[in-house]
Amino acid sequence: MRLLEGKIAVVTGSAKGIGAQTALTLAQHGASGIAVADVMEEAGRETCRRIEAETGARCLFVRTDVSNREDVDGLFDAALRRWGTVDILYNCAGIVTTNTLVQSDEAAWDRVMDINLKGTFLCSRAAYAIMKEKRSGRIINTASISGRIGGIASGVEYIASKGGVIALTKGLAKKAAQYGITVNAVSPGFVLTDMAKNFSHFDPASVPLGYIAGPAEIADVVVFLASDLSRYMTGCTLDVTGGVYMS
Ligand SMILES: NC(=O)c1ccc[n+]([C@@H]2O[C@H](COP(=O)([O-])OP(=O)(O)OC[C@H]3O[C@@H](n4cnc5c(N)ncnc54)[C@H](O)[C@@H]3O)[C@@H](O)[C@H]2O)c1
Repeated sequence: MRLLEGKIAVVTGSAKGIGAQTALTLAQHGASGIAVADVMEEAGRETCRRIEAETGARCLFVRTDVSNREDVDGLFDAALRRWGTVDILYNCAGIVTTNTLVQSDEAAWDRVMDINLKGTFLCSRAAYAIMKEKRSGRIINTASISGRIGGIASGVEYIASKGGVIALTKGLAKKAAQYGITVNAVSPGFVLTDMAKNFSHFDPASVPLGYIAGPAEIADVVVFLASDLSRYMTGCTLDVTGGVYMS
């Protein structure tokens, strides 16, 4: 029996990067239905094709802007119509900025907060409504080392949004616990994805474990948080940084 046998998962921001790898990894661990949600349609459909080709899972792409409530409602409606339930939500969609404080204007603040923090809230609330009825579920959010240490090169709006994700994870966890739903977060350090191209250089020698993570390092921890192995954990943020940040 695989860890996630027969589970239905919604993964946001899964057209590429950490989200795409996690959607695939969830399916490799037995999830049988994966809803891939992203604003990037072609790449999102490609993630679906890859998952279906490489695993036994069925996949559904739903074009979703996580900051738009109607899109989010449409995403969960589509998953419900297709599979009748949602067991796992992985909130991965996110954007980063590298603004100086002067460049950090209201528009940048609102856009980053809308996607990284409000998007996590909207998707979690929609998943919660489904999971509450069956008194079980797993919600996993994506924080960042930036929210722990005040960032390195990212803009303050990104840093604040990820600090917000850590607090939101605790708040959601307290409200959802009575219904058997756990809410936890992964907090990556530096991960080699397109997002990382925003940062000029990151020295592997500065990582205690000696190398820079790929998306798989994060995806494997999400699988743990999505599985029964983490059943007694909620409200936690797991730092997946190769030892760069130790809480
Ligand atoms: N790469 C890193 O070093 C790193 C470090 C810490 C945290 N993170 C976090 O991990 C998550 C994934 O990042 P990544 O490195 O895979 O980045 P990425 O840019 O490769 O992927 C991000 C995905 O989110 C999608 N997305 C963006 N805005 C969206 C929206 N409004 N609605 C739906 N989807 C949207 C993008 O289209 C893309 O597919 C983000 O939340 C990011 O903040 C990344």
